[in-house]
Amino acid sequence: MAKLSLSKEKIKVVLLEGVHPDAEKLFRADGYDNIHTYRSTPHDDELREILSDTHILGIRSRTQLKGQNLEACDKLMAVGTFCIGTNQVDLETCKNQGIPVFNAPFSNTRSVAELVMAEIILLLRGIPEKNAKAHRGEWQKSAVNSNETRGKTLGIVGFGHIGSQLCILAEAMGMNVKYCDIENKLPLGNSEAVGSLAELLPQVDVLSVHVPDTELTRQMIGAKELALLPEGSFLVNAARGHIVVIEDLVNALRSGHLHGAAIDVFPEEPASNQHPFTSPLTEFDNVILTPHIGGSTQEAQVNIANEVADKLIKYSNNGSTSSAVNFPEVSLPALHPDLTRVMHIHANKPGMLEQINHAFSSQKINIAAMYLQTSGDVGYVIMDVNCESSDPIVNRLKDIEGTIRVRVLH
Ligand code: NAI
Repeated sequence: MAKLSLSKEKIKVVLLEGVHPDAEKLFRADGYDNIHTYRSTPHDDELREILSDTHILGIRSRTQLKGQNLEACDKLMAVGTFCIGTNQVDLETCKNQGIPVFNAPFSNTRSVAELVMAEIILLLRGIPEKNAKAHRGEWQKSAVNSNETRGKTLGIVGFGHIGSQLCILAEAMGMNVKYCDIENKLPLGNSEAVGSLAELLPQVDVLSVHVPDTELTRQMIGAKELALLPEGSFLVNAARGHIVVIEDLVNALRSGHLHGAAIDVFPEEPASNQHPFTSPLTEFDNVILTPHIGGSTQEAQVNIANEVADKLIKYSNNGSTSSAVNFPEVSLPALHPDLTRVMHIHANKPGMLEQINHAFSSQKINIAAMYLQTSGDVGYVIMDVNCESSDPIVNRLKDIEGTIRVRVLH
């Protein structure tokens, strides 16, 4: 079990894969100075050696925190994935070992919305085709099929973080926005909610999808839906690759029913920049193809660094787990200077609280405040108490059967 109480100077923070330097700055500004940064991820043994005494680990998408790598983490307290996804981490094992994992799911919202807005402008002007032709020495000076955005209708499927941000940008450009969502979403500005996708499709000049990858959204835009879009309209997908049926999109482009598209995500994407990209869409000059970079901007990297580092610091400093992806979520107030905060992570089973309470009451220690949250098999209880961190009560807590981890702050 990890040591119960550690000072900030002793907490070893490891940031791998060239996490943006703002993360390190934030840790240092908060008093952490045992920070080790790496431009990439060392291999196997070297990595495990580093992990063996790491308390807080920051990774991006390539470091696999699973199997032997996770087993090597004897002292790990919290993990931050400085990116959107968390597939690279064995979340369940982390949870069962009392290790919360944090990410930054919405740090790149603005980046995606801006790219999509730019693509809408380019598509409505027929720029992708004109640009491709100019590169081949063809001059296509013409106003045919070249339109402003003002007064056109943008249909948004999924009015979440990105969809609603795009709505604001599109309205600022003078577009009318209609959207559909499975949840009841409050319209922003002059936008208008439409009852269903089938109802939305015939009304739009451009359709942009911003839904997650779920059973309901996979292949959501296929031949039937594309046929419902007006002749000469456009499709944008910067959400997930399986939402649009590429074969059907190819047919709609080939027939001229759609005048163009912008696609940032694909059903199969190259594993790295060293692998080739292939898609039946490469034959179309009127299709903008981008390598899944909707959210890839310097600003998003800075946002991610700040958001994830902030969550890790909050957890380390006061135990808050708000927005952890695998852990009971608790948002805690600052600790009163006269109190000690005891955090008990345990198997979520009947009788746990009773035993914890008994441990304190039997020592006549007053619990000034208590917070509890559970998630599946794991419970997280936080108590602000009048005792010293070195008090034997703290050690007693870890002897309670089902205890995963005890941490103390004061
Ligand atoms: P979000 O969770 O804030 O919003 C998604 C919205 O879709 C929610 O309002 C939800 O109710 C709605 N929704 C879910 N299922 C639906 C359905 N069947 N029909 C209609 N609406 C449905 O997510 P956010 O941040 O706006 O992201 C949207 C998409 O963008 C996700 O697929 C995400 O993975 C993708 N994305 C792509 C990036 C890129 O680099 N291209 C970067 C960031 C996100």
